[in-house]
Amino acid sequence: MTIHARPGGKTAVLTALSLIITLVALSGQGHPPYKKKTLIAHRGASGSAPEHTLEAYRLALAQGADFVEPDLQITRDGVLVCLHDLTLERTTDVEEVFPDRFKTEGGEKHWDVSDFTLDEIKRLDAGSWFDPKFRGARVPTFQEMIDLVRGRAGLFPETKGPEVYGSRGFDMERLLLDLLRKNRLDKPGADKKTPIVIQSFSAESLRKMAVELKTKLPLILLVEPQDGKRWMTAEGMKEARQFATGLGPNKALVDGNPEVVKLAHDLGLSVTLWTFRAKTPGRFRTVRDEMNYFLNEIDVDAVFTDNPDQFPRQTAGR
Ligand code: G3P
Ligand code: CA
Repeated sequence: MTIHARPGGKTAVLTALSLIITLVALSGQGHPPYKKKTLIAHRGASGSAPEHTLEAYRLALAQGADFVEPDLQITRDGVLVCLHDLTLERTTDVEEVFPDRFKTEGGEKHWDVSDFTLDEIKRLDAGSWFDPKFRGARVPTFQEMIDLVRGRAGLFPETKGPEVYGSRGFDMERLLLDLLRKNRLDKPGADKKTPIVIQSFSAESLRKMAVELKTKLPLILLVEPQDGKRWMTAEGMKEARQFATGLGPNKALVDGNPEVVKLAHDLGLSVTLWTFRAKTPGRFRTVRDEMNYFLNEIDVDAVFTDNPDQFPRQTAGR
């Protein structure tokens, strides 16, 4: 392309050049922070091994995950551990090991993670509930996960229940960023083999990390189906853009509405969908077909899946 300079047209030329440079830089790449269609192992390879155990993370790495996802909780002694629920009973044998240490809420017994020290949590079996062959698997600390994954894939930590932990005297965002700093992973590009992306359903948690704690790491706002009207509009996206680099909608918000993906991209936001599971491929024949459709026809940037081995590698530009 030739650009003809005219007297007084210097600004226009510079603008055109800047546009060309931007287009060249973006060509063949995904929307930041992704460079290609991206596979995030949801709670590890949690379709094949107990979620949030080192076994599930190892399998995710073996299956070629670009990122491995930890959900974060905080122990009584202030340690970040990898677990989806704020309570221990669904994925461990806490009821047997600590039968009297529950709280009752709404007539149900719960064993809050934050009522137990790390030493106590390390006594729990986090594998048998999934399959007896995983008996003895433990709840990992986030540090243990970093040690396992570092250099082999990226990490995609989620702040879970940050307001709940705030009300219990913990500062989840600071704990997370401090731990990343200790591991020298707190800056974008600090370890090229271990990119970090932070996600949360809490806009306030992301806002705090972006504005108050001034992280430059990519931040993804997760969006539940019931919050689609709030965030999956031009107005919502412009607000999200003030503190997040991308959106992480439930796939139901995108299915049948491909225009929201284009809208997000036009506003400079990436789109990361959740959650793709072999056991529930929805209206598709297989979860591979389902991921292929959303990645390549709807053009989302990344997917969370329990089944990294089903990621459509050949057609997803890998
Ligand atoms: O973080 C993306 C997806 O994992 C959100 O759902 O409940 O599995 O954390 P959840
Ligand atoms: Ca999650």
